[in-house]
Amino acid sequence: MDQDCFYKYEYAQKMLETELHVLIKEFERKHGYMPVEHVKFRIKTKESIKNKLESRGYEYSFENIEKHISDVVGFRIVVSFLSDVYDIVSMISHSTNLLIKKRKDYIKEPKDTGYSSYHLIVLVPVYLEGYVEYVTAEIQVRTVAMDFWASLDHKIRYKFHEEIPLDVQEAMLSYAEDIQELDRKMYEMNKIMSKYEKEEC
Ligand code: GTP
Ligand code: MG
Repeated sequence: MDQDCFYKYEYAQKMLETELHVLIKEFERKHGYMPVEHVKFRIKTKESIKNKLESRGYEYSFENIEKHISDVVGFRIVVSFLSDVYDIVSMISHSTNLLIKKRKDYIKEPKDTGYSSYHLIVLVPVYLEGYVEYVTAEIQVRTVAMDFWASLDHKIRYKFHEEIPLDVQEAMLSYAEDIQELDRKMYEMNKIMSKYEKEEC
C-alpha cells in the first residue's frame, strides 16, 4: 500500500493538537478555570489498523481505512469533574474549525463492560496545495476517575487477550459503578465549593 497515504493523518493530528490547545487556553482565559488535567494523542500504528480491519473482515487498503477506521488519529482529554466533560464537549462542538461527525455519550449510557467516556468523531480540515481535505479523528473526553478505570481495564483486557473471566468482568463492572458514584459525589462537592468561592467575593 502507498506509504504516502499516511501523511494526511499526521497533518490532521498537528492541526487538531493546535486547535485543542487554543480552545483549552481560551476556555481558561474566559472562565478563569482550567478543567483539563492532561491531553494525550496518538496515531494508530499500521499493524493495529491492519488487525482492526481484518477483525472486521476487510482487507488492508487505504480505501478501507478511510471508510471503516475513524480513530487513526486519536485524542484523549482528561478533565477534573463530570460537568467539565460536557463543558469541553460543548467547547469543541462550537469550534468553527471542526465538524462533528458523530457523538457517543458513554457516560449517560456506559458500555456493557462499564466503560464510560464521551466520544466525538470529528472532521479536521487539512489544507493541502489548492484544496482542503477533511480527515476523521476521534476525541475521547473523560474524568480522571473514568481514565483510571479505563487504563486498568485496558491492561486486564490485554492480559487475557479479550477472553476475560466472568468474575473479573463482574468485578470491573461493579468498580465502574463505584467510579460513576464517586464522580457524582465529586461533582456535588464541587458545586458546594463554588458556592463558597462566590460568597468570598
Ligand atoms: P473500536 O472500539 O475502536 O473498534 O470502534 P467503535 O466504533 O466500536 O468505537 P467505540 O466507541 O466502541 O470505542 C472506541 C474506543 O473507546 C476504543 O478504541 C477504546 O479506546 C475505548 N473503549 C471502548 N470500550 C472500551 C472498554 O470496554 N474498555 C476500555 N478500556 N476502553 C474502551
Ligand atoms: Mg468498540
